[in-house]
Amino acid sequence: MALLEVRNLTKIFTVGSVFSRLRIRAVDEVSLTVQEGQIFTLAGESGCGKTTTARIILGFEYPTSGEIIYRGKPVQEFLRQKNWFREVQAVFQNPFETFNPLRKVESYFLEAAHNFDLAKNGKTAQDVIEEKLRAVGLSFPEIAGKYPSEFSGGQLQRASIARALLTNPSLLLADEPVSMVDASLRMSIVNLFRNLCDTLGVSVLYITHDLATAYYVSDRIAVMFRGNIVEEGPVEKVLGNPRHPYTRLLLESIPEPDPSKRREERVVVCEEREEYLRAGCKFAGRCPEVGEICVKEVPQNVLLNDVLVRCHKYASKKEV
Ligand SMILES: Nc1ncnc2c1ncn2[C@@H]1O[C@H](COP(=O)(O)OP(=O)(O)OP(=O)(O)O)[C@@H](O)[C@H]1O
Ligand SMILES: [Mg+2]
Repeated sequence: MALLEVRNLTKIFTVGSVFSRLRIRAVDEVSLTVQEGQIFTLAGESGCGKTTTARIILGFEYPTSGEIIYRGKPVQEFLRQKNWFREVQAVFQNPFETFNPLRKVESYFLEAAHNFDLAKNGKTAQDVIEEKLRAVGLSFPEIAGKYPSEFSGGQLQRASIARALLTNPSLLLADEPVSMVDASLRMSIVNLFRNLCDTLGVSVLYITHDLATAYYVSDRIAVMFRGNIVEEGPVEKVLGNPRHPYTRLLLESIPEPDPSKRREERVVVCEEREEYLRAGCKFAGRCPEVGEICVKEVPQNVLLNDVLVRCHKYASKKEV
């Protein structure tokens, strides 16, 4: 049984002024499956719907339609029983926002240990905390008495991962977890996810712009463009032999991990909106291989050698 299944997930946001309301399908019929012990990457440029997908999975946002199935059951059951946040934990982009600058980091650990009643089977809360800190390469003495500002970005992100592990979750949802971390330390954090997945069996939904780390760490990858998954499959097949013109474009362009530059990128909302509202294939305006049909009809998914591709180019192709 799959750990997490996202089925035909759609989220429509209404944006614009009263006089020009626009309906943006920020997430458009997205389906993906994360198996136990797997790292699944959701990749794509800024504003393609990655965070919205993550927020719906976490229960922070209601979908317009579609389902989230966890271990074969609708996620609502877990949310109702209030044990969803034991099963699924989030790791966010900026660890300095995860922790309040005026609170000691250890207090988050002690509070979680208390709230989730973690000290069981003769183990003290301190033992549990130490175990999780060790899993990420830290120890209690290293965090004791310290405020967030006394950590480096990489260290604090490790601490936030340790905190996420306290409830023994089966799934970590990591939204751009290394884009604010110093470039030289990024790989060690990404490796940590692989290590946690291999040793503790924690699955990871890894959200990123960075195809290099995605290639290195993940088992499967889904490439998103303006709300749609345009290509999905085993990472070595998708990135080793990209079929969708957008995946090729992403691989050719070096992604921009610098958050200050990314904010400038976000100002180009017009193009983003235009693409979201485009009839036919949303990528048609930028596609080097655009054909007549692309601007008229929405492409369907085609399965090619274990890889799902959403592109007219392959519509008549059989599995190869
Ligand atoms: N609450 C909201 N109200 C209106 N529009 C929204 C809202 N949240 C997201 N959007 C829009 O939905 C689209 C997808 O946004 P989302 O944040 O999911 O993208 P993303 O892939 O995570 O981008 P980034 O890489 O910059 O984090 C964007 O056009 C965004 O402006
Ligand atoms: Mg995002």
